[in-house]
Amino acid sequence: QTGMFTYDPGFTSTASCDSAITYIDGDEGVLLHRGYPIGQLAEKSTFMEVCHLLLNGELPTKDELDKFSYTISRHTMLHEQLATFYRGFRRDAHPMAIMCGVVGALSAFYQDSADITDPQQRMIASHRLIAKMPTIAAMAYKYSIGQPFMSPKNNLSYTGNFLQMTFGVPAEEYVVNPVVEKAMDRIFILHADHEQNASTSTVRLAGSSGANPFACIAAGIACLWGPAHGGANEAALNMLREIGTVDRIPEYIARAKDKNDPFRLMGFGHRVYKNYDPRATVMQQTVREVLGELGVTDPVFDVAIALEEMALSDPYFIEKKLFPNVDFYSGVILSAIGFPTTMFTALFALARTVGWVAQWNEMISDPEQKIGRPRQLYTGPTQRDFVPLADRT
Ligand code: SDX
Repeated sequence: QTGMFTYDPGFTSTASCDSAITYIDGDEGVLLHRGYPIGQLAEKSTFMEVCHLLLNGELPTKDELDKFSYTISRHTMLHEQLATFYRGFRRDAHPMAIMCGVVGALSAFYQDSADITDPQQRMIASHRLIAKMPTIAAMAYKYSIGQPFMSPKNNLSYTGNFLQMTFGVPAEEYVVNPVVEKAMDRIFILHADHEQNASTSTVRLAGSSGANPFACIAAGIACLWGPAHGGANEAALNMLREIGTVDRIPEYIARAKDKNDPFRLMGFGHRVYKNYDPRATVMQQTVREVLGELGVTDPVFDVAIALEEMALSDPYFIEKKLFPNVDFYSGVILSAIGFPTTMFTALFALARTVGWVAQWNEMISDPEQKIGRPRQLYTGPTQRDFVPLADRT
């Protein structure tokens, strides 16, 4: 009961949905994409295979994978006028600000894939988004460091192409490091989709009004940017660097437990996982492989390992069921590969685009789908009459 309004718990929420794409069991630490466990996909498949799986429902045959990869490679370039769009940003603009703007602006360039009632146009828009996100992200990085944009090279893999657009320079041939390419591809797989998280729900809600797919993905990027969501990977590495040494960890654990302190351990906790995030397990293994094979030692990784051990043996974190999530270790790898922390969430958005477009397609292709309309429990004043200005005291 709130004032004169009676809350009817009987109404069905419009915030939930049916989906056949991703299944999560938060208590058991299970994450399946179209039935396949994330650990098997991360170990045995490529990001292009996972993109085909999420979009089409099945792992591709060799022939299907070749055709899918070729189709994606046909859309990797960005319109030259969009390249000019970058020059309107300050050089120190956050890459997520640029991605929000540029992805939203794609809707001004692709009227031929804006009819969302046409399945073929929907798929073309989906392929365009998956193909262009690496180009857009790499250009945001190049713009921030004042280097020239690198054109896509379609003889490279999806991930290898992204690495050359990011770290290559016109002055010399870029050679893709297979260790880095495999680690990056695995990181993309781990971030591809995650059921109805905040940014995916944002994409679905925007799409339910009939908005074009480019605008919907721009809305998802905006939501992902927040430090409680995709921005946590950037915040987690900044936190690990601020801690600096293992002996300072207890001070930060105490702060995380102090209800009067807004500080939270970034990269810890999850709305759904109350056991462990299976992606974090794969991510920690990948850190060891990448640092070992690159011959990189990073004291931040030692801090991360020690922090996890201390937190997981602390009664507070055990009682609150707080475990490392996908964002806890990813920054250590991305930093070892050479990305600045400001690019971390942009890489999350790059990978999550396939999940966003797969979920958007699933919703839009449902003939029964209606515009989303989450409900509220009204807690404001009961009805009252207007008071003229002269009578207000
Ligand atoms: C992602 O939804 C998804 O699937 C998201 C994602 C995806 O792939 O799309 O998995 C990606 O966003 C992962 C989460 C990344 N965010 C962070 O790492 C930021 C730090 N984590 C927290 O802000 C927090 O854990 C959230 C936002 C992730 C969840 O917050 P909730 O819903 O408050 O968590 P909870 O209900 O499980 O919290 C239980 C208790 C609470 O205390 P009480 O109110 O019971 O006293 O634990 C506390 C929380 O205050 N708590 C933390 C904490 N996370 C929760 N205390 C200290 N440090 C933390 N990190």
